[in-house]
Amino acid sequence: MMLSSPFLWYLALLISLYLSGTLALQQRVGYGYRLTALEESTLDGGWLVGHLKVKQSTSTYGLDIPNLRLFVKHENQKRLRVHITDADNPRWEVPYNLLPRAPPPPPTKSPKTLSPFSLSSYPGSEFIFTFNPDPFSFAVTRKSNGESLFNTSNFDFVFKDQYIKISSQLPETASLYGFGENTQPGGIRLRPNDPYTLYTTDTSAFNLNTDLYGSHPVYMDLRNSGGKVSTHGVLLLNSNGMDVFYTGMSLTYKIIGGVLDFYFFSGPGPLDVVDQYTALIGRPAPMPYWALGFHQCRWGYKSLSVVQGVVEGYKKANIPLDVIWNDDDHMDASKDFTLDPINYPRPKLLKFLNQIHSRGMKYVVLIDPGIAVNPSYGVYQRGIAKDVFVKLDGQPYLAQVWPGPVYFPDFLNPNGVSWWVDEISRFHQFVPVDGLWIDMNEVSNFCTGKCVIPTTRQCPDRKAIKPSVCCLDCKNVTSTRWDDPPYKINAAGKKALLGFKTIATSATHYGGVLEYNAHSLYGFSEAIATHKALLGLNGKRPFILSRSTFVGSGSYAAHWTGDNKGTWEDLRYSISTILNFGLFGMPMVGSDICGFYPAPTEELCNRWIQLGAFYPFSRDHSNFASPRQELYQWNSVAKSARSALGLRYKLLPYLYTLLYEAHLTGAPLARPVFFSFPEFTPSYGLSTQFLLGPGVMVSPVLDRGATTVKAMFPPGTWYNLFHMTKVVVSKDASFLTLDAPLNEINVHVYQGTVLPMQRGGLISKEARQTPFTLVIAFPYGTSGAEAKGKVYIDDDERPKMALVEGEATYVEFVANVKGKTVTVTSNVQMGSFSLSKGLMIEKMSVLGVQGKSKDLVITVDGIVLDSTSIYFSHLGEVQEEIKGGSMKGMLVEVGGLQLPLGKSFSMSWRMDGM
Ligand code: NOJ
Repeated sequence: MMLSSPFLWYLALLISLYLSGTLALQQRVGYGYRLTALEESTLDGGWLVGHLKVKQSTSTYGLDIPNLRLFVKHENQKRLRVHITDADNPRWEVPYNLLPRAPPPPPTKSPKTLSPFSLSSYPGSEFIFTFNPDPFSFAVTRKSNGESLFNTSNFDFVFKDQYIKISSQLPETASLYGFGENTQPGGIRLRPNDPYTLYTTDTSAFNLNTDLYGSHPVYMDLRNSGGKVSTHGVLLLNSNGMDVFYTGMSLTYKIIGGVLDFYFFSGPGPLDVVDQYTALIGRPAPMPYWALGFHQCRWGYKSLSVVQGVVEGYKKANIPLDVIWNDDDHMDASKDFTLDPINYPRPKLLKFLNQIHSRGMKYVVLIDPGIAVNPSYGVYQRGIAKDVFVKLDGQPYLAQVWPGPVYFPDFLNPNGVSWWVDEISRFHQFVPVDGLWIDMNEVSNFCTGKCVIPTTRQCPDRKAIKPSVCCLDCKNVTSTRWDDPPYKINAAGKKALLGFKTIATSATHYGGVLEYNAHSLYGFSEAIATHKALLGLNGKRPFILSRSTFVGSGSYAAHWTGDNKGTWEDLRYSISTILNFGLFGMPMVGSDICGFYPAPTEELCNRWIQLGAFYPFSRDHSNFASPRQELYQWNSVAKSARSALGLRYKLLPYLYTLLYEAHLTGAPLARPVFFSFPEFTPSYGLSTQFLLGPGVMVSPVLDRGATTVKAMFPPGTWYNLFHMTKVVVSKDASFLTLDAPLNEINVHVYQGTVLPMQRGGLISKEARQTPFTLVIAFPYGTSGAEAKGKVYIDDDERPKMALVEGEATYVEFVANVKGKTVTVTSNVQMGSFSLSKGLMIEKMSVLGVQGKSKDLVITVDGIVLDSTSIYFSHLGEVQEEIKGGSMKGMLVEVGGLQLPLGKSFSMSWRMDGM
């Protein structure tokens, strides 16, 4: 129909604009604030408080908060905090007891008038903080180069109870990383206009660009202006749901509650940023050594004999296995802390655990937060007696998960924590598990809203094909502004109710805390409580795997990336998510190797174990609905597993040393390539390869049918760790095509590295007792170069990972080539632990030197050793992988050594022909 009158045409335009949302976008939601007073204090290192007044209020998304208080503090030279909240009423913040940090000073009642501002540049601080008073905006600048890092001017600044909006400009040259948990098909570098919503949901990892199990409102910003590289980090510490919009030129946060609590970390290197970040949020947890071993799990090990068969299967196939897991199959009717008396009879299980424990193997089981509503179930009875559950309208909030109707423990409630600690301790006496897997803690609910148990039908229907379909009688809860907030974040990609398949957001925790505010903290608070419980058991170092995570979770738990698919795409995506968790301070992370569901092809599983063998957390896990996929199920997969896990087990001392460093400085085990090579711009988006530690490059095959891999190497010499006589000498950023036959993955070590390795084995407990080899990689063809490395060992079951005499040893290695002389020295700290374990260095593999070796001199603790039993082997022709040219004499092995790892040594010899 033609619109005949201009009026009708205009009306139609308005309606279409309204429907498309354009009109709503054009409406101003807020008019910003004016800075009316400013106070500075020299107390406590100096801080600044500003008083802000709203310029004009609107009612869209609720009224503006009239008075805000700005608090700025250079917390140290590398960290700046900018905190903005309601000046008149307290607001929700991430609880200070969950994430310990300094609270801002209490509001002052007598603001002074604007005084000259002197705190912008704090002595020694890397940052300059500046502001515009009207309309209020602020900027953070890097002092050393004047670069603007964060600047909120020229954007709306809105602060309402349930809608906070703030934006910053970004230069086009910025590369951003972070904001998770999110499966990013575009790789690690954030893509402009991809959605980033942060709100924890039970949304499977194969869903792209949507908020998944965890919430990490933090990003790293890498800038390279004319070759000058610097990195900084920005955390917005806020647990409320939020949408983050990244356009490439700007970043906008729309948050539905809480406060603005920005922390800026000055870097300037990527490792400095994670160091500064984890100094605030908590260092990554120490992990037991065995956690670095290989793990096998499956949902669907229907009986103990199946589990026993799996352990046998690995042994027979000569594939390393440290940890065997049970999903919920060991439970009686899916109830936490119970055993199925028929399929997992306790006496038999205990016997089995005795057997595997005596070999050094471990056993981890799953628990879900949902506690079955069942009056004859002790865990439930004690929970009710202690009143530990999350509530709605004064009653425990009823939900449904695997056992059927459940209540959710409130881990913000001190009673909830002590009850949980007690339940874990009881369970541990019942079954001596070695670690706990806390699943479904977003928290996941099969139902939505306010529910009751139906009286006219079975719930759960044990015969139901899909037990995850809601069987309670429920009605949506929409009556409160918490359930149906004015601004809808894009939760689970659906703009659905915030309480969709989780706890209704008007439900309350201890002290009246709204689920609306604390929702994304559920998994984090559960991890803290579980950690406390495990610590209290037998003084051993806890191992926890958590699905839902928040800022700080890395101090308590490891993480896996959740339910992926057995597809080539999922294999590829796993790399970015794993690298992201390194940035989030959770370096112990892996994906379900071979995919959770549906089944992988044999070829895919083969390639997946090659990659998965180098995930920091390496576990094969699958769903009962797909065929069995233990690594020994296919010959080709078993072969690759022996090779790739074989190398992993040789590298365990290196990986464990990385864990120690992660614990000290937050440095991730698996790192984006730019972490070691920030000047190498082509690596900024590289998401198909990664580094383990500073200098081991993993270049997996990610494509079906491929027998070569295109890999990029920052300039320098990279030695193949499987075939040490193969080398890549990279000159630039070109992708090089490397051979990658079906049973091989490319793993290279970079020049300048001393890699501590051991002989490997099938169980880490044995592997860690074997003699060491030092792989020493010099750049090819130089007559002056240095390589460095270190190793940390300890009694891994003590809770602390620390350098304490008698409990741990730390050794630094330095190797030099100067002219014709090669020197290798070690510097031992706290050697007695290593000496008590009898650990020896038996061999050195020296890469990059040429000629015949002679005139060896070796001293241990300053005493010259008889070196007659020591021999040099000049191994083969070395091949340049790409050009195939031979490079004579590049690998020299020094064998017959018997050097105690715990004693400082010095070794030198001459090479004829250098
Ligand atoms: C969901 C988890 O993501 C998955 O790994 C597990 O197997 C199932 N829950 C069953 O417990």
